[in-house]
Amino acid sequence: MLMSRKFRVSVLVSGGGTNLQALIDSIGSGSLPEAEIALVISSREDAFALERARRAGIKTAVIAAKDFPDKAALARELVCALADANTDLVVLAGYMSILHPDVVRSYSGRIINIHPSLIPKYCGKGFYGIKVHRAVLEAGEKASGATVHYVDEGIDTGDIILQREVLVEKGDDENTLAAKVLEVEHKILPEAVKIVCETVK
Ligand code: GRF
Repeated sequence: MLMSRKFRVSVLVSGGGTNLQALIDSIGSGSLPEAEIALVISSREDAFALERARRAGIKTAVIAAKDFPDKAALARELVCALADANTDLVVLAGYMSILHPDVVRSYSGRIINIHPSLIPKYCGKGFYGIKVHRAVLEAGEKASGATVHYVDEGIDTGDIILQREVLVEKGDDENTLAAKVLEVEHKILPEAVKIVCETVK
């Protein structure tokens, strides 16, 4: 596929949206000229990420699992919203739901996720949020980090695009470790989007 226009990126969020903000800032500063954010979809209506999107003038939608007892209907709603926004690439940035296989198949090879550990360590079912950092500390690891990977039908099992390490230091607790990893996430997510854009170009 030859892309002379900008990649239309739709970002799926559930929370504070600092990774979304990193993408908005990278595009705003000119360091990610290959991409534009087409749409932000939140799984929660109270996610601060929505406010960040609105402030940046980005179209938003709330598609919440609780409103769709039928998970295939939820998947259809997501795929329709992504298609309406002419999405080229889907970025899961702090998105706290598992994507239905129908969504993964519809955007096969065009969905990426950021995870706050060095995959294959501390990933998969049950490893999300602060639980990841707690497990890293409990295991006495000397390092942790963040990973951006393609999304397949497993949980955190897709091919790795970019990974960066942070050192676990004496005195780190789960909050200080989370903050250090988050700082790295904000760097590697825009870098990974750039890599994907350049790979497809
Ligand atoms: C990040 O650690 C992300 O990797 C995880 O959720 C956290 C929140 O990110 N999946 P954000 O501030 O909502 O972008």
